Amino acid sequence: MTKSQDAYRLISPSGIETELPVLRGSTGPDVIDIGRLYQEQGVFTYDPGFVATGSCTSDITFIDGEKGVLMYRGYPVEQLAAHSSFIEVAYLLLHGNLPKASELETFTETIRTHTMLNEGMMRFFGGFRYDAHPMAMLSAVVGSMSAYYHDTMDVNDPMHRDIFAHRILAKLPTIAAAAYKLNIGQPFIYPRNDLTYCENLLHMFFAVPAEPYEIDPIAADALDLLFILHADHEQNCSTSTVRMAGSSGANPYSAIAAGIAALWGPAHGGANEAVLNMLGEIGNAANIQKYIDKAKDKNDPFRLMGFGHRVYKSFDPRAKIIRKMTHKVLARLGRKDTPLFDLALALEEIALKDEYFIEKNLYPNVDFYSGIIYKALGIPTSMLTVMFAIGRSVGWTAHWREMISDPDGRISRPRQLYSGPTERGFVAIGER
Ligand code: CMC
Repeated sequence: MTKSQDAYRLISPSGIETELPVLRGSTGPDVIDIGRLYQEQGVFTYDPGFVATGSCTSDITFIDGEKGVLMYRGYPVEQLAAHSSFIEVAYLLLHGNLPKASELETFTETIRTHTMLNEGMMRFFGGFRYDAHPMAMLSAVVGSMSAYYHDTMDVNDPMHRDIFAHRILAKLPTIAAAAYKLNIGQPFIYPRNDLTYCENLLHMFFAVPAEPYEIDPIAADALDLLFILHADHEQNCSTSTVRMAGSSGANPYSAIAAGIAALWGPAHGGANEAVLNMLGEIGNAANIQKYIDKAKDKNDPFRLMGFGHRVYKSFDPRAKIIRKMTHKVLARLGRKDTPLFDLALALEEIALKDEYFIEKNLYPNVDFYSGIIYKALGIPTSMLTVMFAIGRSVGWTAHWREMISDPDGRISRPRQLYSGPTERGFVAIGER
């Protein structure tokens, strides 16, 4: 970050002039530093939803929403999707550069050998209702990790921060699989450290003690690609939540648990589950127009799930990759989910020609197709946001590490425009 020669001059109605420095990143729009505004002019800025507000400086991920660009540490996501693996991308996001072969080997080994959960933690699952939503279990169990690892939770110790990152990445699939097995009433399957990250996930989800389970390499590859695409997305709602919770110095497991809770919402990661529910509700192509009309009706809360994005105003590059992959995966797996995909394509075609969606720049986002592939891999609808969380856990962890080691870091503490009652006197209960 550099300070530009330019500055904005803001003159208040009473004539107070404040010079607001302009900060320049390595690419993307400049940022106006408004830190002195309140001190000098006594006003706050107002930007609900942070539409035009940069909350931090970050080296991790860059998005150009107009051009549909997404880069992790400078590498276009298309290149990483074509040539890399999720574990390599995780290393890149956490450490800033692609690993050398020996670094990747050590990192992979570390993640592979930290997949088991403390048995006490496994017993938590006995306390959840059989039909508990897996996102509720994921958030609760990740939060509970802080009760197990308090000897390595010094946020100022870089080694403790590394251990935390490895634990989150290694153990999330185990927690997710345990939640799934509870939901379907099957015994938990322990991780196998001889398998790759995604093979192990499939094994813990779908193996049963009674018979051998053969891992489908196509499924493992598809999962790996989806995790790469989910891995980070700069200051999105859940990542900002992780940063904000962590900014108080709270332990990182609690911060990640808060991120998981934020991701669950249907406007964010919960959209992939909502897309499949919506497609199920639409049922067949004849009903599409009815749902398009509902989405356009201001008096109807229904929105076309998997459409629209705060940042992407041309296309979501992740959706483009997944759309292509969905064709391939469905064909190669020979699954019966093709009608669902056909319905999604028909819905997309009608929406993209509709004046409302064109005018508002509403395009399919990453969640529009991801659920269809997950479903083809045998992952049930209720687990879709959990899959998103496993991929995004890397981004959350990278951002938490960046936030906690930022020398200019301060507790996140926004201000407000107060609109409640002004001062009034207390009235005794009998006189109200
Ligand atoms: N269907 C119908 N209308 C929509 C939709 C939609 N999916 N998305 C936005 N609009 C309309 C919205 O009503 C508004 O209209 P108007 O200007 O007349 O008030 C306009 O488009 C702008 O929308 P917004 O809600 O102000 O935009 P936002 O940036 O605050 O919200 C969004 C972005 C993703 C939350 C929203 O587009 C949405 O709710 N989409 C459906 C949920 C979804 O697919 N979420 C996944 C996002 S990608 C993955 C992730 O982030 O986790």
